Amino acid sequence: MENTAPAKKVMLSGIKPTGDLTLGSYLGAIKNWAERAEQYDCYYFMADLHALTTRNDPALLRRRTLEQLAQYVACGLDPEKNTLFIQSHVPAHVELGWVLNCYTMFGELSRMTQFKDKSAKNADNINGGLFTYPALMAADILLYQPDYVPVGEDQKQHVELTRDVAQRFNNLYGETFKIPEPFVPKVGARVMDLLNPNSKMSKSDEVGNGRVVIMEAPEDIMRKFKRAVTDCDTEHCVRYDPENKPGVANLMSIYAAVTGKTFPEIELEFDGLGYGAFKPAVGEAVVETLRPIREEAQKIMKDKAYLETLCKTGAERAPCARSIRRSDWYRLRGKGTENRESGIRSESPLATDSKSPARAYTLSFHFSLFAFHFSLS
Ligand code: TRP
Repeated sequence: MENTAPAKKVMLSGIKPTGDLTLGSYLGAIKNWAERAEQYDCYYFMADLHALTTRNDPALLRRRTLEQLAQYVACGLDPEKNTLFIQSHVPAHVELGWVLNCYTMFGELSRMTQFKDKSAKNADNINGGLFTYPALMAADILLYQPDYVPVGEDQKQHVELTRDVAQRFNNLYGETFKIPEPFVPKVGARVMDLLNPNSKMSKSDEVGNGRVVIMEAPEDIMRKFKRAVTDCDTEHCVRYDPENKPGVANLMSIYAAVTGKTFPEIELEFDGLGYGAFKPAVGEAVVETLRPIREEAQKIMKDKAYLETLCKTGAERAPCARSIRRSDWYRLRGKGTENRESGIRSESPLATDSKSPARAYTLSFHFSLFAFHFSLS
């Protein structure tokens, strides 16, 4: 049976393809994910539907989604050991999203801090999607019955809401959804902005001089590290003191994360050398860490056939997609994909076909929802 409990606990997370992956996301999180796959059955998807709440250029969104996938694989997420897929390629997310919308209260959605922040920032585009975003996120999660949902601080409230909605549905109709636990990931290095070491290196800011993305050219990375702020103390020495020397402490954490050295070892290495030697050394170490990742991601992006296989196997492996017939899957992905010559391009931002035979698929989804229901109750 497909929905019996797997031997390993299930973990699921979605990542919005809105910006390039930074050194911060790599050292702080993704680096640890390869190891995580040994212990958990992991699902990661590129949340392209969630990216639609802000205006996007369709071609850019498609490219970013694929680039993000390629970058995750290049960072060491093995597609054989993890289920990696693109959210819009598994239409069940949207369908269950609608269903759960009807079990999520206006008051609850109004209290979401992310909604309040984002609507304040984008007063000219407060769309329904921005408001009901957490219901789609609940669907993303509940479709796969995960045990754990690793998310950052800003998404915890959405996971809490998911639990409430699942509970409400279960109370009304019997045990249907497994109640997931938020998961606080093992912290890797906490990487701060190179020019403003009191704030985190952000994922979605414009590429500025304080932020390094994993695809960046070595000379740019070097330049940014050479310009990184250190501290205006007089001792001018490499010493770990996050309180008084946040800039140096940040560079030391980065250096420790990429070289595996301890803070005392680093202090000793740069003893008497000052920041002029330290900053380029950190830059070099980062360049060498990111080089193979960048090259691998570029290789994957050029290999359209491999990318397509990656997307297709991922979406087929996502359990709820198993009920989708393969032929439907192709049709749902749009005519651009049916044409081998044209690679992954297609006319819509989500690569779905407006003429897709959604009905047949929807029916199978209803059955699978019921199957879920019965098999778990
Ligand atoms: N909302 C998350 C973010 O902005 C992305 C996301 C979408 C997600 N669906 C999810 C995360 C499901 C965890 C589980 O980062």
